[in-house]
Amino acid sequence: MIDIARMKKYLRQELSAKRYKHSVNVSKTAVELASRYGCDLHKAEIAGLVHDCTREMDIDTQLKLLKKLDVVPDEVTIFVKELVHAASAAYVCSQLFMIEDQEIISAVRYHTTAKADMTLLEKIIFLADFIEPAREFEGVDAIRDIAFRELDQAILMALNSAISFVLKKEKPIHIATIEARNHIILELNKRYDEELQLKK
Ligand SMILES: [Fe+2]
Ligand SMILES: [Fe+2]
Repeated sequence: MIDIARMKKYLRQELSAKRYKHSVNVSKTAVELASRYGCDLHKAEIAGLVHDCTREMDIDTQLKLLKKLDVVPDEVTIFVKELVHAASAAYVCSQLFMIEDQEIISAVRYHTTAKADMTLLEKIIFLADFIEPAREFEGVDAIRDIAFRELDQAILMALNSAISFVLKKEKPIHIATIEARNHIILELNKRYDEELQLKK
């Protein structure tokens, strides 16, 4: 049994008020998306809540946690730094919150970079993190607009936006993000071709 009250207590202690609110918002948005697309609501609620649980922990502590599991982040993740918290949050989920559900852990693990061939829950957490109500960036309303109508199209727009942001900052783009984008474009095109065939 996952103890939500204990998680919230931990998050209130470990996160700033702003990030705590963001976590609650992501959880709520994830539940809305899960309800729209037929995903497990409870898993969406939990994964959304804990996805940033180590976001404000210093990098060295995060790396030490990961070392306990023999996880060594790749060079790009260490260089960008903000990417490390996805792996360390997945660690806290399994080791501290005793979450055994691999779907939840994986959704937390890939919420920053995304990856190719994501599960429905992984997609929902990635997107909820992008469009929760307090998010403000150029293009967010267009992604919100489509999020509840065409999930994969919204994910593609979010990936495009994330990649543009990284390009502007002249930082390296994680390979998993490139693979996520390529995969979704190929999937969308396959679906489009199938729909065309059906109309013939
Ligand atoms: Fe995050
Ligand atoms: Fe987040």
